[in-house]
Amino acid sequence: MCNLKKVKLLNRESSLEFLPNLSDKLGPKIYIKRDDEGGRGGGGNKLRKYERIIADAIDKNADTLIIAGHYQSNAARELVGAACQLGLKSIVVCKEMIPEQNPTFNENGNALLMKLMNANIIAIDKEDDFQTEMERVAKDVIKNGHLPYIIPFGGSNLLGSLGYLDCANEIIEQFRNVEGKSPDYVITPAGSGGTMAGLIAGFAIAEKPTKVIGFSVLHKDKTIENVVTHLTDEIIDNIKPNSDLKINFEINTNFVGDGYGIPTESGKKAIGILAELEGLFLCPVYTSKAMAGLIDYIEKNKIQKDETIVFIHTGGMPLVHAYYNQ
Ligand SMILES: Cc1ncc(COP(=O)(O)O)c(C=O)c1O
Repeated sequence: MCNLKKVKLLNRESSLEFLPNLSDKLGPKIYIKRDDEGGRGGGGNKLRKYERIIADAIDKNADTLIIAGHYQSNAARELVGAACQLGLKSIVVCKEMIPEQNPTFNENGNALLMKLMNANIIAIDKEDDFQTEMERVAKDVIKNGHLPYIIPFGGSNLLGSLGYLDCANEIIEQFRNVEGKSPDYVITPAGSGGTMAGLIAGFAIAEKPTKVIGFSVLHKDKTIENVVTHLTDEIIDNIKPNSDLKINFEINTNFVGDGYGIPTESGKKAIGILAELEGLFLCPVYTSKAMAGLIDYIEKNKIQKDETIVFIHTGGMPLVHAYYNQ
């Protein structure tokens, strides 16, 4: 079994909130899991992943965390915040991955918050390979007498994904308290896949019938399904080896739009609906695309009016500012 140690980046369970006005509008009972709240660096879904990844780094005596990202990366911003909190160093190997959406795109939102935390950002060219560059930076760190630790893409390795197994268990407990059962559906954005894999494994291991639906925000092909399936199997093999558990999930790649980081019309509409009806903010890159997918599923009766839903709010609020002109 893998190392299950954690550092404490989250002070409490995230809340599960009922969305009365959205539920009234769409039909099914919709709850939201507030993984956007709490935690240093502005919060978001990566903190659950970093709790075990950083514990592993500390176990290996590393003092410098290296992450690859772009100027509007939530993952990088959250890592820098966690490193600040724990007194570790961090380096963001950064390149442009999203076409500039406005004149301040690389200075606003997450870029601004990273600057406020005095993040050590090493800019590389668009054509440069992240892994090669992170390894080069790691060698420099060693030369300077420190010990580096490279964060896996999106925090989506086994250790990171286990954070979302924790989240599934929180949902099971919280939902039982309000509805007396497990939800019919859990909806999440899927980028590097660890959030979704942890959730699927969590419900499977707890032997709950809940179906996890992931709306891809990055891959438009089978890649995301392969990654999620592989990670889910890896988690189950580690936590409950030789079991014959039923996994229940679906991945939809039809809401990515023109590509990663490019807002869609249905996503923008979803941002407006949540803001106006519930005073909640979704981001143009991740959660809005998942919410657009959920709305579509309900409108097309793929989810019935008498079913229950938990939508995972994975964070990303700074992106609302970065995309202000959209
Ligand atoms: C706000 C937000 N939602 C969802 C995701 C995707 O999560 P995962 O990479 O685990 O699929 C990310 C990843 O960067 C994110 O920042």
